Amino acid sequence: MGATPFFVDVREDTFNIDPQSFKQAIIESRELGLNPAVVIAVDLFGQPADVDAITEIAHAENIKVLFDGAQSFGASSKRRRVGSMGDATTTSFFPAKPFGCYGDGGAVFTSSEEDAEIINSIRLHGKGSQKYDNVRIGLNSRLDTLQAAILIEKLKLFPGELSMRSSVAQNYSNLLSDAFSIPILSHGNTSAWAQYTLKLDNREAVQAKLKAAGIPSVVYYPIPLSKQLGYQHYPQVSRGVEISEGLSEKVLSLPMHPYLSDTTQRRVVTALTQ
Ligand SMILES: Cc1ncc(COP(=O)(O)O)c(C=O)c1O
Repeated sequence: MGATPFFVDVREDTFNIDPQSFKQAIIESRELGLNPAVVIAVDLFGQPADVDAITEIAHAENIKVLFDGAQSFGASSKRRRVGSMGDATTTSFFPAKPFGCYGDGGAVFTSSEEDAEIINSIRLHGKGSQKYDNVRIGLNSRLDTLQAAILIEKLKLFPGELSMRSSVAQNYSNLLSDAFSIPILSHGNTSAWAQYTLKLDNREAVQAKLKAAGIPSVVYYPIPLSKQLGYQHYPQVSRGVEISEGLSEKVLSLPMHPYLSDTTQRRVVTALTQ
């Protein structure tokens, strides 16, 4: 789209965008001659970002709010479901997500009729009022019919799976809170628990221990976006994105899915604590 990403830092406790860093970014991006138009707030690991603070700061400056709910679909903030907040929310139905299909898929949610029409047009090659009347440059981004059929069936199971994920997370927290830095939910938030992620000072040793016990674990993500080759030349807040960079060296996600049994969880915990 020709836009310039401007990186801001995250909060140490929730891993999500830090509203103060975002505020700073508005000032500093304007000093660079940029025109901040939209903030993309990712709901990392399943927990909604700081919805109210971000929306208030953004809207006061005429900036649109786009939530990335790929990992948080099904979660809520102060009883508002993901997908109903901000100007729009995107989600992914990639199989690894809490609500996944069997291939690629995704959706965009908005309460703006006008935006919905544009998004619909973009997903179908830029269509206008008629299918073969193209009013803009678009994409082939239709949700595949087969994937849609799978999602319709899985949607029936999804509320149950969300509460099972919550129980699995609670069980981990009960078993691990004494010895580990466990995930924290902000007041009023529920999480879709896409991941259950610990912060560790000795990550390599812990991951090796888990591996030796045959237990998979994953680092989401070893390289923050601001350090990725394709993005590292873009600007960031002057204070830097130290917390994001620091977290990328500490985080480790444990096995997490709705059908994880208590016995298996105890195996994971034993491997972690032995
Ligand atoms: C937070 C987040 N945003 C976006 C994506 C991308 O989703 P997709 O590959 O379906 O576009 C993912 C998953 O890979 C994700 O976890």
